[in-house]
Parts: sequence; C-alpha cells; structure tokens
Amino acid sequence: MKERESFGSRFAVIMAFAGSAIGLGNIWRFPYLVGQNGGAAFIIIYILASFLLSLPIFLSESVIGRRTHSNTFGAMEELAPGTKWKWMGLLTVISPLVILSFYSVVGGWSIEYFIKSFGGFGSTSAAGAASSIATGGEASISQVSAAFGWFISSTWGPLFCHTAFLLLCALIILAGVKSGIERFSNITMPILFVLILLIIIYSVSLPGAAEGVRYMVKPDFSKITPSVIAAAMGQSFFSLSLGVGTILTYSSYVSKNEDMVLSASGTAVMDLMFALLAGFAVMPAVFAAGLAPESGPSLIFQTLPFIFTKMGETMPLLSTVVAVLFFLTVLVAALTSAISMFEVGVTYLVEEKGLTRSWATVAVFVGTWILGTLCSLSFGPLHDVHLFGNTIFDFCDKLTSNFLMTFGGLLFTVFVGWKMRRADVRDELTNGRSIRFNDRCFGILYFLIKYLAPIAILVIFVTNLLAK
Ligand code: TRP
Repeated sequence: MKERESFGSRFAVIMAFAGSAIGLGNIWRFPYLVGQNGGAAFIIIYILASFLLSLPIFLSESVIGRRTHSNTFGAMEELAPGTKWKWMGLLTVISPLVILSFYSVVGGWSIEYFIKSFGGFGSTSAAGAASSIATGGEASISQVSAAFGWFISSTWGPLFCHTAFLLLCALIILAGVKSGIERFSNITMPILFVLILLIIIYSVSLPGAAEGVRYMVKPDFSKITPSVIAAAMGQSFFSLSLGVGTILTYSSYVSKNEDMVLSASGTAVMDLMFALLAGFAVMPAVFAAGLAPESGPSLIFQTLPFIFTKMGETMPLLSTVVAVLFFLTVLVAALTSAISMFEVGVTYLVEEKGLTRSWATVAVFVGTWILGTLCSLSFGPLHDVHLFGNTIFDFCDKLTSNFLMTFGGLLFTVFVGWKMRRADVRDELTNGRSIRFNDRCFGILYFLIKYLAPIAILVIFVTNLLAK
C-alpha cells in the first residue's frame, strides 16, 4: 500500500472544498441568475436546493471517496468489483477535464482583465484606455463591450492567457496535495472573503446603489416557474462542483476521523455566503450605473468594467483599486476551482496508470491545453466550426453542465443509495456511529440520497433536455 497524502486539518478540508466550490459560478453566474429570476425569491429556492438536493449529492461523493481513499475509477472498482461501475468512474475522470478546458479559457480572460484593471477597460489596449480616461473621454458601454469582443475573438492574447492560467494550476498541483492545494486554499480563501467585503463596501456606497440592495432582498414570487426552480437546482449543483468526481477525489484525501457531514455543510454554507456576497457586490453597482440586472453572462467582463471605467472619470484611483481587487478575486476563485478539476485527472493517472505526479501533471496539462486552445479559438478563427449547432466552447460547456454533471450526480447518488450497503453508508457518515448527531440524522440524509436527490436530478436533466 502506497503512502497517500491527506489534508492536515478540518480547516484545510473545508478550505479545499470551498476553494473548489467558490469560483466563477458564484461571482459570475449566481448574480445574473438572481437578476433574471426574481431576486430574493430565487435566493430562497436556491438555499432550499442547496441543502435538500446538493448536500446529499455532495455526501454521496464524499462517502465513496473517503471510504476507498482512491481515485474515481479505483473507488468504483473497489466498492463494486468486477462490475461496470468503474467505467462510469472513468467518465468522471474525463468530465472535469472537459470543464477545465473551457474554464481555463475564462480563467485566462480574468488574467487579461486583471492586468487591464490597472489601466482601463474601454479600449482594445490597456494603454489606449488609460489615455482615454486620463483625457476625460466619456466611456460608453458599447465601447467596453467592443473591447471585450475584440479581445476574446483575437487569436494570440486569449491563448497566451489560457496557457498562463493552466500553467499556474499545474504549478500548484505539482507541489502536491498538502504543500500545493492545501497551502494555496488555506491562504487564498480567507483573503477572498476579505476582498469581496471590500468590494461590497465600495459598491453599496455608490449613489443609487440602494435599489440594487432592495433587488437582492425583495422577493418577487411571480417570477418563479418550474424552469426557474430547475435553474436554481442546476446552479446549486454547479456551484458545489458536483457530479464530476471532484468532491469524490478531494474526499479521498480526508482522514477517517473527520466529520464528513460537518465539512460538507460547512462548505455548502461558505459557498452560499460567497454567492450572496458576490450578489451584493455586483447588483448595487449595476443599479448605481443605471444598467439592467438581467444583462446575463456579460456581467463581469462588460458591465462591471464599464462601471469601473465610468466611476474612474470622477474617482480614478479608488475605482482602479476596486477594479484590481475585483479581478484578483475572480482570478483566485477561478484558480482554486480549476486545481480541483486538475487533481481528478492527476490522481487517476498516478494511481491507475502508475505515472509519477510530475508526469501526470504534464499529461493533464497537455490534454486540457489542446482542448482549451480549440475552445479559445472558437471565439475567433474557429468560430464557424460547429458541433451539434454549437461552437466548440459552447459545446463543451453545455455537454458538461447539462449532461455530464447531472449524469454524474445521478450515478453517485444511485450508487450510494442503491448499490452500497446501508450499514456501510451509515458507518462512513457517522464514523462508525461515533458521531451522535449524524447518527440521529442519518435516516433523513439517507432518504435524501436514496430518493429525493436522484428524482430531482432527473427533473433537472429532463428540463435541460427540453430547453435544449
Ligand atoms: N463550482 C465551480 C464554480 O462555482 C465550478 C465548477 C463546476 C467546478 N463544476 C466543477 C469546479 C467541477 C470544479 C470541479 O465556479
């Protein structure tokens, strides 16, 4: 039996999980979904979905990972030897790598915008923008949007940033689970919370921000439809990095005496808090600038840079500082999520294929770099290459978010609820029945894992299918 690394403390476990969970999904997707789907009404449904649906899926992955202390493929083979389950385990090695490919492209954009934030966003070059602001040129949202469109559709800039982002991930992964992942998350996660709080203070103090705060706290139940409920469930699922073996892999590095229910709930609470904080950082600024809350995916790379540029006309220093902090937050949050996807492939290659950690890192890097390059070019030179009617980037995004993740979630809950022995699941969630509280709640948790979660996932799946 080889010596296997493990996380050093409960704090480290939660920071690593939270590092995976808190990412672009919280900062970019959550605020615009809230904006489009009825403000606080959406938030209420999201909270319910997080605890009733996502938590049981999280626990299912944790049970499998920690019980076996193995990669997704090996874990399935160990718990159900000689069955086909291991092939499904293999699928969950592949899906995080597909996510990583396009996630790293967006991670690359955040590097570019972090660099741009020192100068300005309104022009196609940071220097040009800085001069247009310095000369008091009025920024317009179309100018900022055009700069974004120009950047992502060019060939070399985004490729360079995508490569830099993946290299950063590879460096952290190379350092190992303890000195790489654990150390990086332990330091950066608390800093992220401080950064987002600073941004909130700025955002809420802008004139006209109160409307945005009201938007976040006033529920509009008339907007709630079945597809909004499915969207809330899907977002909570995405936000907790479920269904692709990341939580399973990280759980395999958790020691036997850790309380899995506690660390899972701690992660869900932190992820939720960060999403809400991001909402309060973004929405008031959007309202203060007189923009629509529903602006959708363009929110962080177009709407916010426009806001920073506009504020820069009167308060150049402050707005630059906030812009720098904001894109630093986006970048770090994206990095801690990306390394968790990276680790799934590395753990698999080391344990199943006998590669050293360094070679496994190189292999994952090369594979995701190639696919990511295609994703990046699909905004420019490869724009006309379509897979099932989508560009390569959109295809990878839809394939994973709508199908692979939900399918993986279904697989894990069904495996734990129906294939594993109930006594073993109980043993894992209660540490041999030594944690009294978990033992008492076990009936409910087991019910959620066995019945509610799989049914809810099927509902999301069908809704996504119908929506195409
Ligand atoms: N949870 C991440 C975020 O909010 C995104 C994500 C989705 C993810 N699936 C994942 C991260 C799988 C790691 C692994 O940005």
